[in-house]
Amino acid sequence: MINYQKKITCLTEQDTKALAEKIADIAQKGDVFALYGTLGAGKSTFARYFIQHLTSAQDIPSPTFTLVQTYETSLFDIYHYDMYRLKSPEEAYELDIEDAFYSAVSLVEWPEKISPLLPRDLWKISIEATGNNRIFVLETTSQEKKQRLERQFLNE
Ligand SMILES: Nc1ncnc2c1ncn2[C@@H]1O[C@H](COP(=O)(O)OP(=O)(O)OP(=O)(O)O)[C@@H](O)[C@H]1O
Ligand SMILES: [Mg+2]
Repeated sequence: MINYQKKITCLTEQDTKALAEKIADIAQKGDVFALYGTLGAGKSTFARYFIQHLTSAQDIPSPTFTLVQTYETSLFDIYHYDMYRLKSPEEAYELDIEDAFYSAVSLVEWPEKISPLLPRDLWKISIEATGNNRIFVLETTSQEKKQRLERQFLNE
């Protein structure tokens, strides 16, 4: 197992959009993106640009109250979760996480709410905010994911 980390600074929301699209382009069925960051860090913003890039969805509401929103692409479904309101990790099973983690692409806000249920092999994305600047720390323990990421950022 490796511990690979890539730090990317987004000075504007437009930079965040470009990053989300770049990551969306390397997403594969079975990928779980755990989005860490405090209130207003930019988890939903990142997810929205990611989903917009891969689907024709016009409206991409934050799943704050519904807990999950689903989308379809030609290659996989996308499950966008917001776990903030979960009272216990077990409640997440009712949101189809087993199925989503295995056969779709999952974007998970507030993943710390379901820590014991997260797969070991995931994309960890931590967002730190100062003003309009966002520092994205992308982490993976998978050699294969590291290679996908490095190939995508070859020219940076
Ligand atoms: N560089 C940037 N990248 C992303 N968002 C930015 C940036 N600069 C400013 N913003 C703003 O920061 C806010 C981020 O809000 P967002 O709803 O995405 O946060 P969140 O992490 O999902 O919060 P919550 O925990 O409440 O779900 C948005 O209003 C967005 O326009
Ligand atoms: Mg949010």
